[in-house]
Amino acid sequence: MYDHFLQISPHYRGLRTTDLGPVLFIANKLQNLSSIHAADIGCGAGRYSLKFVQHLGEKCHLFCLDSNKGMLNHLHKYFTKNNIRNYTPIRSDSHKIPLQTDSLDCIMSFNAIHHFSLQDFLKESSRVLKNNGKLFIYTRLKEQNERTIWGKHFPCFSQKENRLYELDELKSAFEKDPNLNISSVKFFEHHRVYPIEKLVEQAKNHHYSTFKFYKKYEFRESLHRFVQNILNHYDDLDRISWKDQNTLLVIENKQWSY
Ligand SMILES: C[S@@+](CC[C@H](N)C(=O)[O-])C[C@H]1O[C@@H](n2cnc3c(N)ncnc32)[C@H](O)[C@@H]1O
Repeated sequence: MYDHFLQISPHYRGLRTTDLGPVLFIANKLQNLSSIHAADIGCGAGRYSLKFVQHLGEKCHLFCLDSNKGMLNHLHKYFTKNNIRNYTPIRSDSHKIPLQTDSLDCIMSFNAIHHFSLQDFLKESSRVLKNNGKLFIYTRLKEQNERTIWGKHFPCFSQKENRLYELDELKSAFEKDPNLNISSVKFFEHHRVYPIEKLVEQAKNHHYSTFKFYKKYEFRESLHRFVQNILNHYDDLDRISWKDQNTLLVIENKQWSY
């Protein structure tokens, strides 16, 4: 997957749709803090990191961590172009966050936890978060993925994507962690309307890494069938519409002192 993210890094932000809802929700949860040290883990090319910093302004310092050097290079260019300086890019793994213990008010991760070793990431998050610090995990659940336009119409898409979690699986991962407790779960629904050309462009560019699990000929054949399925289901090919769903977990770090 490293090479996939390296290859796609120059185009990544343009290929994916960025939703403001989760960023506003997180910013609202942090609004009472006078200064915020936060980290975006698996930040990619920075589309959510930038929105977060823009919303919280100068009172926040964001550590943008990703294992992929291409993604971080593009994040750096993007932040520079937008005159953002209150951030530090960090190339590292999600289970090895090179920051001090008890140093962060908030950690967030968008569309990335299914790439991590989850239990190791949680353990490391609990270490770097302050007592009462918050962890926000924004993801597509397995069942939500099945209801996307890709899950419904692209052959084998849901079966090939077996890295995503169900909510119960996430809940039991948190039960295993002594410090991290889920305080709330919020579901988002985003109404999408795209022309068919945009969908084909996204798939051809592998905007979801799931497409990397197809052999070349299998992908070609599946894309052809996807277009046929869309033609059979929609009349207006300039306005293919569907709803994407996502889940945001809000987690609190409670460290026990004896
Ligand atoms: C699907 S992309 C999401 C990027 C970004 N959060 C967004 O929503 O645009 C997943 C990102 O996680 C990064 N990643 C994957 N495994 C990682 C790991 N073990 N540690 C740190 N980053 C990782 C990838 O390099 C990639 O940039």
